[in-house]
Amino acid sequence: MKVTKAVIPAAGLGTRVLPATKSMPKEMLPIVDKPAIQYIVEEAVRAGITDILIITNRGKGLIEDHFDRAPELESRLESGGLEKQKILDKIVDIAHMANIYFVRQKETRGLGHAVSKAKSFVGNEPFAVLYGDDVIIGEDPACGQLIRAYEEYGLCVVGVNKVSKEAITKYSSLKVEPLHDNIFRCTDMIEKPSPDKIMSLYSILGRCVLTPDIFDILENTEPGAGNEIQLTDAMRTLARRDGMIAVDFTGTRYDMGNKLGIMKAQVEVALNHPEIGNDFRAYLKEIAKTL
Ligand code: UTP
Repeated sequence: MKVTKAVIPAAGLGTRVLPATKSMPKEMLPIVDKPAIQYIVEEAVRAGITDILIITNRGKGLIEDHFDRAPELESRLESGGLEKQKILDKIVDIAHMANIYFVRQKETRGLGHAVSKAKSFVGNEPFAVLYGDDVIIGEDPACGQLIRAYEEYGLCVVGVNKVSKEAITKYSSLKVEPLHDNIFRCTDMIEKPSPDKIMSLYSILGRCVLTPDIFDILENTEPGAGNEIQLTDAMRTLARRDGMIAVDFTGTRYDMGNKLGIMKAQVEVALNHPEIGNDFRAYLKEIAKTL
């Protein structure tokens, strides 16, 4: 079955980026001139997704406004000449990229709990999950790479990259065997492993394709790391029971949930930005001389 639905959990508290995220969702932090979540929606749309459910919570109204029309702003831009017309087109396009729906996670009980709120949106179809604070930039949308693997194997898929031994204890670790190219079979996984529990240096980074089987499993998943219902714990049950596929996706992933990740995204995207790229490069070179 074709994957046309996606879920973007964006209801976390963003405590690692306070005070910026006190009243502003971290998913709205800009990377140069676009909020992080717009990059994520664009990736999904490029991968053929037509319907997107964004999981929000109190105080995330800004996300809804961003994907809505903005009549006052639009009419001001309309009367502003050719340059403003280009911006107007971009602004209007945001509201028409996909059918975007919202649901609230009323208590912040973890990523797994957030995904469980998508049950009625998903129905009987497979769906992609794009974590709201993981921006992945690349020619071939990461989400599309996972969808192709789902179509090839008919099993749930996780997007992985190799991470360092030091970093993996903060992420997850997967038991994998190579299948072909950058595709692996995954039969087990662990969230935030202690150093003696590391299964491999492959870690899930922000993308998966799941079937509705996950919802029953999530209902029976006890709170894990951080006393939250972890999506990885539910996927572990799935991996052990049915097997999953892991795709070592191409593209650069930026963790918008921590300060260094945000700065790396800003710098690298700015360097390639058509409007400011050249000037920013010259500025960075000057600054680098003083370091
Ligand atoms: P994180 O654990 O990185 O987000 O979740 P967080 O809880 O906001 O992080 P810190 O530690 O407090 O800084 C990964 C993704 O899952 C979403 C987050 O919004 C993020 O996009 N999430 C997390 C939810 O939607 N609900 C939750 O209960 C937890």
